[in-house]
Amino acid sequence: MKYIIANWKSNKQVEEVKDWFNKFHSLANFKQNNLNDIEVVVCPSFVHLQLARSLINKYNLPIKLGAQNVSPETSGAYTGEISAEMLGELVGYVIIGHSERRDNFSENDKMLFQKVGLAKEAGLKSIFCIQGKETLIPNNVSIIAYEPVWAIGTGKAETPENTAEVASYVKRKYPIDTVIYGGSVTKDTIADFIKTDTLDGVLAGGASLDPDHFWQIVRQCQVD
Ligand code: PGA
Repeated sequence: MKYIIANWKSNKQVEEVKDWFNKFHSLANFKQNNLNDIEVVVCPSFVHLQLARSLINKYNLPIKLGAQNVSPETSGAYTGEISAEMLGELVGYVIIGHSERRDNFSENDKMLFQKVGLAKEAGLKSIFCIQGKETLIPNNVSIIAYEPVWAIGTGKAETPENTAEVASYVKRKYPIDTVIYGGSVTKDTIADFIKTDTLDGVLAGGASLDPDHFWQIVRQCQVD
């Protein structure tokens, strides 16, 4: 099984979300293209999750939904926070520990470990981002995303050899069997990242914003 995860970050307005699903639906033509052995997960902003859910249902798309963040606290008196319990009703996955959250919003290991625990309790699968081998990994993580900071949004991806090396290190050291790579993945580089069995997929940021580009990535991961 390969995981292809789209992280839209803080992008898109309502009409753009509608356009994306509409175009992806017509490009992919799921009557002819079934996604055997691929789990496609799209992570829009919180405010577009409900809309994305209804579009996935409308077009009957084989796409799972994920959130980009979750509160480190339970439901309750935490103004502005979105709890794992709330997300559990809407999505199956949640990205935790992205370097943009660690760096821009001072998220530390303690908070991130709390998030993973609450996500697990709410039935969510955590996609936990690590920046390298030294990043601490909590229990109860479903997927590790290896994302070196220098490769994110720079157009300079890590080599497939190094990603595979980090993936096998993580699998040896932790009880985790799914490790993906993120950082400047495009339709032109995807083939290199999926050819190794050690790596279980990719997390695409910029390249996932355009439905055509994202479909080119998904299409190359299809097995006949
Ligand atoms: P990028 O982002 O594909 O735009 O480099 C990846 C990520 O931050 O997950």
